[in-house]
This record gives sequence, structure tokens and C-alpha cells, in this order.
Amino acid sequence: MSATAPVRPVLPPDIKARKGGAPLVVLTAYTTPVARLVDPHCDIVLVGDSLGMVLHGLPSTVGVTMEMMILHGRAVVRGLGKAMAVIDMPFGSYEESPAQAFRNAARIMAETGAPAVKLEGGVTMAETIAFLTARGIPVMAHVGLTPQSVNTLGGYKVVGRADEADKVMADAKACEAAGAFSIVLEKVPEGLSGRISKALTIPTIGIGAGVDCDGQVLVIDDMLGLFTDFRPKFVKRYAELGKLADEAIATYAAEVRARSFPAAEHSFPDALPPATKAKS
Ligand code: KIV
Repeated sequence: MSATAPVRPVLPPDIKARKGGAPLVVLTAYTTPVARLVDPHCDIVLVGDSLGMVLHGLPSTVGVTMEMMILHGRAVVRGLGKAMAVIDMPFGSYEESPAQAFRNAARIMAETGAPAVKLEGGVTMAETIAFLTARGIPVMAHVGLTPQSVNTLGGYKVVGRADEADKVMADAKACEAAGAFSIVLEKVPEGLSGRISKALTIPTIGIGAGVDCDGQVLVIDDMLGLFTDFRPKFVKRYAELGKLADEAIATYAAEVRARSFPAAEHSFPDALPPATKAKS
């Protein structure tokens, strides 16, 4: 018998109970090795549909499929030991009807092992969120800038200034009333996101939404500086891995061309030295 109690995985009610406590730390991940890197530091690891742009070079998240989300979702869940996985529902997989949303959310959870999904939309999606949560599917909502609607919004703009503020507040309240366990506020002005965070009893997780949210999320590749040409205002770069990678790749290319790589220590001799032979 083991002396240590088994570790209970973090579940959506634990995240909901964190309202008003220490800020929630959330990052995206799309692969097992990155999931392993972020797991010790995060409360939630989001398999965002941003993977369509970040990993697959798509122009927006509109082209992301269920298959892509499930493939990357499984890879991430495999790499997590402590943090909770949340998987984005891709565009077109949930908007048609609550029944369509249930079918696809259940498939995502069953095939990835993640205990929750995220979907975009406020008042319009409230009926669907209520349908899912009543049937065992924990939902993280997402309001403000909803990137899957980029074609109707007309760009990746701040959402919630002036006349738009009441609508964003109403969207957030509708998601809470429908049973969402937490909500992402994307590109919402800081004063408004502070008021929403005060008004709701579920944690708000901000991205470009100021410091008064109950938690923060960033896209991992953005905060590691893996892109050299993508610098949105709301992303703080905690490293410049793109620059480091460029330097490393340039050095490799120069060494291959100069025949200085591989050196002897990277190559295999034709015959093993006698001492090694004796051991083997
Ligand atoms: O797709 C994503 O990565 C997201 C976060 C940026 C919130 O939705």
C-alpha cells in the first residue's frame, strides 16, 4: 500500500471555487512536450483553436476542425499531471444547435480525456451552454473578441468600448447564468473587464483584458517570442525563442556547409576501442 494519497485531478468545480483567490494561471499548449513544460506552473492548460494559426499556418481559426482539436487535445492531456486541460470547440462544431454542440463536446471529452470544453459566444450561446452543463459537460465561455467571428467583427479589434460595454456585460452574465464554470474575456477594455469580474461569481480569465481579471491566459508561442513578426500589444514576451532558434539554425547551416558538423564526437568509428569491446 502506498503511503501517499493519490493525486486527485483538478476539475472545473475546483477552478470555479478559486473565484476571489490567487489568480489563475493559464497558458495554451498543443503538444505533449510543451504540456509537460507548462504543467507544473499552470492551473489550466488550454488547447486553443489558435493552434490553427500557430501550428498549421491558417489565416484564422475558422478552418480548424474537430480532428485537429482532438489530435492535439490528446497529445496535451498525455503531457499533463497536475493542471486541468480545456479544449476549444472549433468553429462550426457547436453553433447549429445544442444537440450538435453536445455530440461534439462529448466526443472531444471522450477522445481526449479532457474534463472541459471552451466555446465562443455570450447571450446567443447561453441556451447551448445550459444544455451542455445540464448534461455533464463543463463549459468555459469566451466573450469580448471572439476570433471565430472575425469575418463578422471585421478584424481582431477591442470589443466593449462605449455602446458595446453593456452588450459584453450582458454576454458575460448570460454565460454565468447558463452554468459556465469560468469565462475568457478577450480584448475587453480594462475598466469593463474589472466590472465584469466584480459582477460575476465565476472566475474571469483575461487576454488583453487588464489586471483585474481572476486569471490570465496567453498563447504559449506568443509569450515565448517564437514569432518575430507578430507583436500584439497585450502579449508580453517572456523570452525571444524565435531569435535564439534563428541563430541556432544559421549556425547549423554554416557548419554543415563548412563540413565542421558533424565532428568526431557526433560520429561512429568503424571499430570500437578494445576496452569498450571487452565490456560489451
Ligand atoms: O484559441 C486560443 O488560444 C484562445 C485563447 C487565446 C483564449 O482562445
